[in-house]
Amino acid sequence: MYLRDCWYVAAWDREVGREPLARTFLGQPVVLYRREDGTPVALEDRCCHRNLPLSMGSVQGDNLQCGYHGLTFDPAGTCILVPGQSTIPPGARVRSFPVRERHRWIWIWMGDPARADETAIPDLFWNDGPDWRTTGDYHPVAAEYRLLTDIQLDATHVTYVHPDTLGSDAVQATPPEVERKDGRIAISRWLLGVEAPPIWKVAGGFAGPVDRWILATFVPPTGCIFDIGAAEAGTGAPEGDRSRGITNRTSHFSTPEGESSCHYFWLFARNYRLDDGDLDTRLHPGVHQTFREDVDAVEAQQRGIDARPGAVQIDVNADKPTIQARRLLASLIEGETAAYSASAAE
Ligand code: FES
Ligand SMILES: [Fe+2]
Repeated sequence: MYLRDCWYVAAWDREVGREPLARTFLGQPVVLYRREDGTPVALEDRCCHRNLPLSMGSVQGDNLQCGYHGLTFDPAGTCILVPGQSTIPPGARVRSFPVRERHRWIWIWMGDPARADETAIPDLFWNDGPDWRTTGDYHPVAAEYRLLTDIQLDATHVTYVHPDTLGSDAVQATPPEVERKDGRIAISRWLLGVEAPPIWKVAGGFAGPVDRWILATFVPPTGCIFDIGAAEAGTGAPEGDRSRGITNRTSHFSTPEGESSCHYFWLFARNYRLDDGDLDTRLHPGVHQTFREDVDAVEAQQRGIDARPGAVQIDVNADKPTIQARRLLASLIEGETAAYSASAAE
């Protein structure tokens, strides 16, 4: 089950151009391309004539021409040309999905187009703000999307999954504060007077103890956004003075492809040493390694789930954030399903 009336990330801005891009979301094949003015378009990736994927066709002006018999569809999905005849058969159309380009990503609304609310796209200002330097990636993931949410929201995994970069026993020793507010869940950890993890030593050059923060926010249905960093211990970071520290923001969004696969988009941003390209060279490989390790872990989990479907899982205290996030998502899906059933019955 998926939440439908919401924005999902469909692609990086750089992935969508004048060549059709095929991608499946929530079990539905979609084709993405750009109009001549650069505006992104998303259509059902199935020609209404004989089912060829429209992604095998070509973009003509603002329209998409099927690669089989040349039927051509405008950005609204309406067939505007049938080669060899002057009339268009009634009903010759494909579904068109609302799309928006924001914060380096193309967002798609897979639910009722009439309910597409542009203001619901989360504010990820660090993704494309002038004061931030970024890196990021896309991974097709052979695991269901909620496993990616789980791994992001449970910081205790960094000790074991990321020993070379973010790992630290101090995370286990400090349970998070978990707060549900305004339809989101905030998960906060402050680790005071601890050794900096390897990646923050590279980024901040810390030699002594640090105050370290891991501040996560779950933005349903799949968003996990972070404010993470460290400052020299005792210099006031918990009270708001980060002048002796480094602040990083990360955005992690997954989009279900099907029941046990998803698309994973992440971006890492820093707002310090912006002109230091050499720091990119030293920092970014570890960042990419870290998020690749998450993908490896959840894909291995999915294989474990598939090998023993329905096997009992044991919960521990550290699962509190992930259990709350799953509950919130489940309640949203339940509410949406009930609303759709009610309107269908009217
Ligand atoms: S299948 Fe697309 S035009 Fe015939
Ligand atoms: Fe991780």
